[in-house]
Amino acid sequence: MSDTWTAADMPDQTGRTAIVTGPTAGGLGFHTALELARRGARVVLAGRSEEKLTDAATAVRTEHPAAELLTARIDLASLASVRSAAGELADLGPIHLLVNNAGVMATPHRRTEDGLELQMATNHFGPFLLTGLLLPQLAASGGGRVVTVSSAMHRVAPGPPLDNPFAAPRLYNPWLVYGQSKLANLLFTHELDHRLRAAQLPVKALAAHPGLSGTHLLANGPRFGGVLQGAVRAMSQSAAAGAWPTLMAATEDLPGGTYCGPARWEVSGPAKVVGSTRMSRDERSQRRLWEISERVTGISYP
Ligand SMILES: NC(=O)c1ccc[n+]([C@@H]2O[C@H](COP(=O)([O-])OP(=O)(O)OC[C@H]3O[C@@H](n4cnc5c(N)ncnc54)[C@H](OP(=O)(O)O)[C@@H]3O)[C@@H](O)[C@H]2O)c1
Repeated sequence: MSDTWTAADMPDQTGRTAIVTGPTAGGLGFHTALELARRGARVVLAGRSEEKLTDAATAVRTEHPAAELLTARIDLASLASVRSAAGELADLGPIHLLVNNAGVMATPHRRTEDGLELQMATNHFGPFLLTGLLLPQLAASGGGRVVTVSSAMHRVAPGPPLDNPFAAPRLYNPWLVYGQSKLANLLFTHELDHRLRAAQLPVKALAAHPGLSGTHLLANGPRFGGVLQGAVRAMSQSAAAGAWPTLMAATEDLPGGTYCGPARWEVSGPAKVVGSTRMSRDERSQRRLWEISERVTGISYP
């Protein structure tokens, strides 16, 4: 596979159903959804704000009037909301692709209604539960795929997030916890793919990261993030290009466990297959995080 993959290389998606979480206009999920719809997929925009979902659907249809779109309300930081959204998505029938894209970065310390730290809840536990609940529909497609959006920031994680997720942290560093949540995305992807193969299910798990892309992530996350956002936008690539690694992982003929990122220093440019840290490939951590996630979310799969 060359290092020059862009959305222009994406194969036809007609007849496929894709769910993309976090599709707010201007973000990576939006561009992922837009390109999938442009190639003929039926796309479910899954987000927490009705108004933003309507805006995103309107923006996709402005670019691609024939787009086949549905919307679904989901708050990934709430296990009850994830369960209720998955209940509604049961009517969709077979699902070919789930893109776990929604996320928050470096938020001030906050506990969710489930007693979890906000970043781990939104970026890992919510997607873990959603994936498990949708797995029967992914398998029913005969060739399902789960793509989870991680980050180069998984490299800053001081260790895997294997402590009791309900315990109060001794010290809360929002950036290190973000790194851990993105490491969790990779541990999850590897363990999911491993378990899917062991269960002989026709579903693969892959991961991607966008490099540095100008989106709303900073404005929604750290204190003073809104101030930083302008500067980062000026230095970073577009959200449209940032979606290429996700789209490559979602549609190219790649083995489970593959991680895609931008080709230019893993910061920008066309997509390619990239590597991840040794910590992300540690099988004991993968298993342990899976067991913790099953306990927290109350679901066991596959
Ligand atoms: N931008 C980058 O350079 C970069 C780099 C590495 C990794 N990433 C990853 O890329 C993914 C997408 O981020 P982005 O850069 O496109 O940022 P973004 O523009 O802020 O998009 C994030 C999306 O996630 C949604 N979201 C946040 N919390 C949610 C919740 N509790 N329930 C449901 N949806 C929720 C947001 O919804 P609202 O609009 O309602 O807030 C938004 O649609 C994230 O997983 C992020 O970690 C981004």
